[in-house]
Amino acid sequence: MKIKSFFFTVICLSIITCQIGCDAKKSNQKTECFPYGVASGNSASNSVLLWTKTTLEYIEQKVHWQISTDSLFTRIHKEGFKIAKEENDFTIKIKVDGLSPSTFYYYRFFIDKKSLSTLGRTKTLPAINEMPENFSIALVNCNNFQDGYFNAFEALSKRDDVDLVIHLGDYIYEYEAGRYADTTLVNRLHKPSHEIVTLNDYRTRYSQYRSEIEFQNLHAKFPFLFIWDDHEFANDAYAKGAKNHSEEEGVWKDRQANAIKAYMEWMPIYKSPEKNPPHQIQIGQLIDLLLLEERASARTKQINPCELNEKDVLEHTLLGKKQMNTLVNTIENSNKVWTVIANQVAFTGYSKVDSLFSLKYKDWWLGYPNDRNQVISAFKKATNKPIILTGDHHCSFVMALHDDHLDSCKPKYISEHNTKPLAWEIMVPSVSSKNYDAYPDSIVNNYSKKLVNPKYNPHIKFADLNNHGFTIMHFNQNTVQAEYVFMETIKKKDATIRETKTFNLTY
Ligand SMILES: [Fe+2]
Repeated sequence: MKIKSFFFTVICLSIITCQIGCDAKKSNQKTECFPYGVASGNSASNSVLLWTKTTLEYIEQKVHWQISTDSLFTRIHKEGFKIAKEENDFTIKIKVDGLSPSTFYYYRFFIDKKSLSTLGRTKTLPAINEMPENFSIALVNCNNFQDGYFNAFEALSKRDDVDLVIHLGDYIYEYEAGRYADTTLVNRLHKPSHEIVTLNDYRTRYSQYRSEIEFQNLHAKFPFLFIWDDHEFANDAYAKGAKNHSEEEGVWKDRQANAIKAYMEWMPIYKSPEKNPPHQIQIGQLIDLLLLEERASARTKQINPCELNEKDVLEHTLLGKKQMNTLVNTIENSNKVWTVIANQVAFTGYSKVDSLFSLKYKDWWLGYPNDRNQVISAFKKATNKPIILTGDHHCSFVMALHDDHLDSCKPKYISEHNTKPLAWEIMVPSVSSKNYDAYPDSIVNNYSKKLVNPKYNPHIKFADLNNHGFTIMHFNQNTVQAEYVFMETIKKKDATIRETKTFNLTY
């Protein structure tokens, strides 16, 4: 028997032994060696980052990895090993380069040939000089464990027409057990049971979220990119604090550093998002993609924009000067078909039409009028088609952005738009975090109807306030389509799709 085929036999047999082998020293329980599955991210046209985490936390382990162009690993492209280190909470990241563009790869991990991870699949980006025929980006965000099940992740992991997934933030929530929660659900309380503050707290919370099989299935199927929002830190975070942080909880910078360290351990990315943002990615000649950072690097404390005087307006910032310059330059000078901006909080905004529902203008771009105006000016100079992809709001909106000269104090949209949109904003439904789903349908439908009435909000093409799910953006050289997929329920494990809606965006 050749050495290589002997090796594969051992690996294949190990699928069976893994059921008892990996953690046998620790307990007699049936345990997986890689209980949080596998993930990939940060893909480029010739490289990808692979991720996993071991369970043998009492000893530093050598973890082997392989990447192949076929799922049976008969054509291994590269392999190697890395030591799982305590300082990184036994998470492992492998950068694999020398890959071919627009190509599917399969990958797996094992320890001492006794155990195999689940199978991962990933895909490289198109070559930078290539014009891909089409490219589809799935968008997910706001998966609050305590509000429901991650059925949207499961439904998305069944799709075969997605090239890349972007998580738009609120990958975890920081709250203690029972707060901001549907407490009628069984076994959906946060661990640890207190609000997370220390490094170990944040690590434990990530491990709880990533124990969900639906989350693991999605990560194993597609490469991811990420932007973080506030709840990866604490509610309404800004560079020097957060609404949900008090002095009794310690120094904000320490808590922020803990959150970032745990985030970097769990996400398949190279560079922490607050370092030199925005993260820029080129998808062939089709898309210039920018991943914004709006929480840790520059954001000044939220304040009612009506209370800002002229000097304060200039200093009150969401992105900071450096990030803004890069964003503006890319928007104005991009020669790709689309400029796509992955963004945390609502950019366009809308008029409030009912006192029952409150809006968080202070935390949105509307609360930072100087930054918002700079981006609108850049859109006016763009020669291509800009799109903003937004999370945070938990509701679904398709909105045209016009040069509407909004007064941030009283956002009111002009009743008729005779010009073409400067950009479109796609707001993505939450995976499970609460929206207006607790209100009776009749009240929500009534409010929706008022919202999309051109008398109040002529720029809203679609609004949905009480569904949960995901969105897929389908790009080609001539068109872009937003596909909204809504789940039947989040209150039990059930990946049934209730409804799908698609919108073609025209400029
Ligand atoms: Fe959220």
